[in-house]
Amino acid sequence: MNTWKTLITDAELLPLDRGLATMHDGAIASDEHGRIVWIGKTTDAVAHENCRESTRQIDGRGRLVTPGLIDCHTHLVYAGSRANEWQQRLAGVSYEEIARQGGGILSTVNSTRSAGLSELITSAVQRANQFLEFGVTTVEIKSGYGLNIETELKMLDAARAVEKETALDVSLTLLAAHAIPPEFKDGANSGAKQYLDEVVFPLIQHCQGKVDAVDVFCESIAFNLEQTKLVFEQAKTASLAIKIHAEQLSNLRGARLAAEYNAWSADHLEYLDEDGVKAMAQAGTVAVLLPGAFYFLNETQRPPVELLRNHGVPIAIATDHNPGSSPVFSLPLTMNMASTLFGLTVEESILGSTVHAARALRRDDDIGTLEVGKQFDVAVWNTAEPADLVYRIGDNLCCGVAKTGEFVIETT
Ligand code: NIG
Ligand code: FE
Repeated sequence: MNTWKTLITDAELLPLDRGLATMHDGAIASDEHGRIVWIGKTTDAVAHENCRESTRQIDGRGRLVTPGLIDCHTHLVYAGSRANEWQQRLAGVSYEEIARQGGGILSTVNSTRSAGLSELITSAVQRANQFLEFGVTTVEIKSGYGLNIETELKMLDAARAVEKETALDVSLTLLAAHAIPPEFKDGANSGAKQYLDEVVFPLIQHCQGKVDAVDVFCESIAFNLEQTKLVFEQAKTASLAIKIHAEQLSNLRGARLAAEYNAWSADHLEYLDEDGVKAMAQAGTVAVLLPGAFYFLNETQRPPVELLRNHGVPIAIATDHNPGSSPVFSLPLTMNMASTLFGLTVEESILGSTVHAARALRRDDDIGTLEVGKQFDVAVWNTAEPADLVYRIGDNLCCGVAKTGEFVIETT
């Protein structure tokens, strides 16, 4: 039998395959491929024949060890800042109004178009490493601030570089259908159709096999239901998975449409109705809640959490990190917001950033729980109490991170 590569002993293990049940005095071992090969009690681990001198042994000192967190919705690649716009909002101008005046997403588009690839990589890598420090080991990254072929591809290249240059796993999403760029705005039908035909559809076909999913912002300030459907049809012909920004500011019934296309997830969902919830339940579409955007935009309409629970829709939580509506760097802080602002239980917030986030990315065979056969992606926390991960506001309890069996943040 093989020697174990990494072994954590004396941990309060939170595997998350059975809710919040922890294993006291737990131990977990990886093989040389970075997979979990053994989970059990510390006394059994140290007596095990595979535990030899070459095994790297880390003393958990009674601290909580969980799966690495998963942020399943971010816009981590961009240039520029929207602090000015935020100050306008503080003075009473709405997010929609700013978008209509050519600010909002389009202001980040201008900065991102002007930025060189290496500038985009440097800032995205810096942000990604901050995510890692908060216990995140997998992150989804969307394009969507290019809105032309060249810049959308540049953003995707920057996101790929994040995977190469950091310890994070990256799931890539093409969000060319994020807004209609100014150069198409004067056309018929607000230029949306022409933009889709000339930029979005060719990009989708080009990205076949090169990204994990295609996303659309379905909203009055972006793409309507009919246009969203055209994007889904293109994604289908390119065999790409589908996700959607839906029901954030109004109810256009985007989530229901996405569910009809077996979307991996529908995200935001503040204005989702029961019809949409039922459609998502039937399709197995994950509800990704983004309390950072709700908080930062000072929204008042909460997503229908009770309906999602009643219909058994899996609920994930993500930062939606972006410069305009959610400049948040901490997934644990976002979990606190999910519980405080949306009423999620501690268990729902923890499962939402692990198990269900893995499902939202269709990576649940590999990550999201600590089970034999899955990736040895773990976070070590400076507490033995699972509720502390959600309860403490702005604190960083993460004191160690291992990715595929290697400690990338050494436990202190
Ligand atoms: O997920 N809702 C649309 N897109 C982003 C916001 C992007 C921006 O304002 O820059 C979001 O909140
Ligand atoms: Fe988003």
